[in-house]
Amino acid sequence: MTQDELKALVGQAATAYVEPGSIIGVGTGSTVNCFIDALAKMPVPIKAAVSSSHASTERMRALGIEVLDANQVESLAVYIDGADEIDHAGHMIKGGGAALTREKIVADIAARFVCIADESKLVTTLGRFPLPIEVIPMAAAQIARRVRALGGEPALRAGVVTDNGGQIIDVRGLAITDPAAMEREINQWPGVVSVGIFARNKADLCLLGTAQGVRTLTF
Ligand code: 5RP
Repeated sequence: MTQDELKALVGQAATAYVEPGSIIGVGTGSTVNCFIDALAKMPVPIKAAVSSSHASTERMRALGIEVLDANQVESLAVYIDGADEIDHAGHMIKGGGAALTREKIVADIAARFVCIADESKLVTTLGRFPLPIEVIPMAAAQIARRVRALGGEPALRAGVVTDNGGQIIDVRGLAITDPAAMEREINQWPGVVSVGIFARNKADLCLLGTAQGVRTLTF
């Protein structure tokens, strides 16, 4: 199976975790796009979704799915999103699509995070995928200095402005052996909007697309 077929497989499988008539959280990316397409075909539709990006909002609205502002909901039963990397404890690197901050906000509202990913995303230690950090532009140079002091190699993602008006610094060369500690450390640097380590808001479950079918990992 190709990577795109695996994404379609887990996108479809994720609909089993969606209660018809409910309000759910929806992430961002090519795997989530497959999920949104499957969501729009559910026999009994959802009531509405809270979206983690303009891109997902547009796709959902085009398919007739109502999208609510995060401030309009008290809670969400489930949040469904992809990942750039996920480890065997459910910690993730996210933000390849620059939507990490809104993804973390929606994940935080939800009771359960269901990650959908193809098997190439499963890793032993996070950090092969460059770690995205969303920053306030005036802090970019100082945050790059802090990243170097931590042993990472920062690169500003050229031409990208996030949905929040932020910039993205991608960090190579970090072996993230303690995701929770590194998330806490980077989060408290002035000018960091959010870091793409999802340890505090880790996945509760991962639907992993493999050549043998969908593997369900619970954490
Ligand atoms: C966007 C994300 C995505 O979930 C992540 O980049 C995975 O994307 P894809 O499903 O296209 O591989 O974090 O900010």
